[in-house]
Amino acid sequence: MRVLSVASEAYPLIKTGGLADVVGALPAALAPHNVALTTFLPGYPALAAVTKRAKVIHRYTDLLGTEARILKTKIGDYPLLVLDAPALFARGGGPYGDATGADWSDNWRRFAAFSRAAADLASGAVPGYAFDILHAHDWQAAMAPAYLRYAPGPGAPAKTVVTIHNIAFQGRYGHDIFADLALPDKAFALDGVEYYGGVGFLKAGLEAADAITTVSPTYAAEIRRGEFGMGLEGLINDRAGRVTGIVNGIDPAVWNPETDASLPARYTARTLARRRTNKRAIETLFGLDTGDGPIFTVISRLTWQKGMDVLAGALDELVALGGRLALLGSGDTALERAFLAAAERHPGRIGVRIGYDEPVSHLLQGGADAILIPSRFEPCGLTQLYGLAYGCIPVVARTGGLADTVIDANEAAIAAGVATGIQHDGVTPEALSHALRRTMALYARPDRWSMLQRNAMRADFSWDESGRRYADLYASLTGTA
Ligand code: ADP
Ligand code: GLC
Repeated sequence: MRVLSVASEAYPLIKTGGLADVVGALPAALAPHNVALTTFLPGYPALAAVTKRAKVIHRYTDLLGTEARILKTKIGDYPLLVLDAPALFARGGGPYGDATGADWSDNWRRFAAFSRAAADLASGAVPGYAFDILHAHDWQAAMAPAYLRYAPGPGAPAKTVVTIHNIAFQGRYGHDIFADLALPDKAFALDGVEYYGGVGFLKAGLEAADAITTVSPTYAAEIRRGEFGMGLEGLINDRAGRVTGIVNGIDPAVWNPETDASLPARYTARTLARRRTNKRAIETLFGLDTGDGPIFTVISRLTWQKGMDVLAGALDELVALGGRLALLGSGDTALERAFLAAAERHPGRIGVRIGYDEPVSHLLQGGADAILIPSRFEPCGLTQLYGLAYGCIPVVARTGGLADTVIDANEAAIAAGVATGIQHDGVTPEALSHALRRTMALYARPDRWSMLQRNAMRADFSWDESGRRYADLYASLTGTA
């Protein structure tokens, strides 16, 4: 089975969030299932090192108005194709916007061109390349199935899968861009690329895809409702028979406390006491008082989705209860300010680092006691999975993938020996306050706390099962099941 995995991010080359972790992990996750996965990425400056000696496999003189080449190289041990189009991708800032965080005004052209090239690769336009499946991730790649549907290349088009990592981001543009997409007029239809009078990239992909997946079963059910569907709930309901939820796994080569090079002390479920060394390192790095009380951590985009406004309002109580907080994140300016102000109010109790830092995120999982994830919605969530693997107990809102992957420490689950974290219903000050109190009470019982940690570290969030589910899905689409 040959699969082209099309995405705007892949760890370790370019990452703004969990999408990158998943796309980066998929080749190794699928290899045991006889799926040969080739990743296709835009040629951002961050890829320059891996494309320096890459082979050119295709040239465009006019890819939606720009010159471009497709390059062939590797990501780790696996094949990587890159769309080298300097006019679209060779610029500073992030993958989607400038250094101030403002989206590039030509994102529609950047990701339409990227999707057009993916569709070419998946329909025989590039000699020597053929794929059974085109697997598009999120709106940046979602036009690829639409191109395959309305304007495929000379060969047999691949079957298509679109994975929704976050339905809140849709790639929605005005009608005026349609003429520049190089699609036939008939594509501007209710079941095509048209969306509320304009063009919707994710919408177009969801209409065209042979199968739709999202990253947890609970989120797959949630997006059928207005509260979570963000305007696409009607489409999701119409196509419900083709929608499945497959929970993300974690990449053991990157996230394993026994081998993690970012940790001063590596450990297993049998040597949990060694985490204390990492906790001391967090205290030093975040300017926290030393002590045996719990350190909570947050490793997150600081946004409304993640419930960070409600959390900011709960910090005085967190400190009053005897907790400390080490926060690593960046995002909305108002939220960044609110957390920095809390750190000023509570020196030694709250430490805040605004920014993005991969090694520090590992240290926090390896030394903090609990990770707070009060998301209003969470398609899957990876930081709770890393928390489980590292014995950093997740305290989460009961939504999406958080509901599917954390087992609440109620009396029954404790008695049965299966509890792995704390869940709360809804993202309100009261719910968060209750969850903090429950966490403090559990922490005060060392027997219970270490049982939680051991249960968490034993839970299986490897890619084994989810890799098999993707492989089965591909096989069902190609008739080889
Ligand atoms: P989302 O993709 O919605 O942001 P996920 O939980 O799926 O949420 O994935 C977030 C990923 O980004 C995780 O790998 C997490 O460790 C990482 N991350 C988030 N914020 C930071 C940060 N400030 N520094 C380092 N890593 C971060
Ligand atoms: C998105 C979601 C997150 C998910 C990630 C990877 O960023 O917000 O919940 O874990 O994609 O699928």
